[in-house]
Amino acid sequence: MSVDFRYRKLGYLVLNVSDLERSTHFATDVFGLDLAGEAGDGARFFRAGPAHHDLILQQADSPAFARSAWELETEADLDKAFAHYERIGLSPQWVGDNECANLRLERAFRIVEPVLRTTWEYYSRMSYTSVPRTNRLTKFQGGKHYGLTVTDCKKVTDYMVENMGFLVSDYLEGWFASLLRAYPTSNHHSFAPLQLPGAKPGFHHLAFMVEEIDDIGKLFNRIKRYDVKVQFGIGRHPTSGSIHLYIYDPDYFVWEYTLGMEQFPEVGAREPRRMSAAPENFDLWDAVPDREHAHLFPPILQAA
Ligand SMILES: [Fe+2]
Repeated sequence: MSVDFRYRKLGYLVLNVSDLERSTHFATDVFGLDLAGEAGDGARFFRAGPAHHDLILQQADSPAFARSAWELETEADLDKAFAHYERIGLSPQWVGDNECANLRLERAFRIVEPVLRTTWEYYSRMSYTSVPRTNRLTKFQGGKHYGLTVTDCKKVTDYMVENMGFLVSDYLEGWFASLLRAYPTSNHHSFAPLQLPGAKPGFHHLAFMVEEIDDIGKLFNRIKRYDVKVQFGIGRHPTSGSIHLYIYDPDYFVWEYTLGMEQFPEVGAREPRRMSAAPENFDLWDAVPDREHAHLFPPILQAA
């Protein structure tokens, strides 16, 4: 293992959106999240479970992926992670007390990884919400992941494996895509760098795991009422075995429901598989992703 700290899960993502009202409607009425309040600066929190938030949407001039935040197992892991990133020269910065309070976090720090120059936040304790969710549209399982389009998947993968505590679960031959898990979390993947044809660095999708096939079937029908377009699915990934449905929001962020992901043991997990890139092996149910709108995927914010 390349690091001495332990991940618990992908905690939350922060997305810049061009119309916060419109995106709030999408996140709640279409996707089924609960609005969990507003920060001092007007950014909105959304949750899929008892954690204070799983997603932050903030108003901006144009849509972009702002950062990911990762929950570690303990406060001791947070200190170990800080020391690790200091050791490898990434100059981790503690988040100020006011901002931590705003984010309902005990403590947190941020780094900028050097390959894509995206911002990563680490914390171990977020406020727990006792009041049940009120949105009844979907039963969320709690797991999440996201994917970015990148120009060099192998380079991103190697850096994350060597320096950030990730393991490869599967990859596509030629290294055009890899599916990475944040050790020791059991989900097949928490992050996926995807090297699409002609890709520039951009945001590919955010995914929430759901409890049952009804959740996906109901979303499939619900989006017709809201004139929401499908990006990919309903299908089944040959890698993780999960059933999926990817849809576009008004900013061309892609949001996914995913069901039934392969689980990995902490010790003795199988080796990564080199998956065939042949079109007939792309999806077990022959689903074909929409490529027509790929140029509209929002960019990622890259630190200077
Ligand atoms: Fe996904």
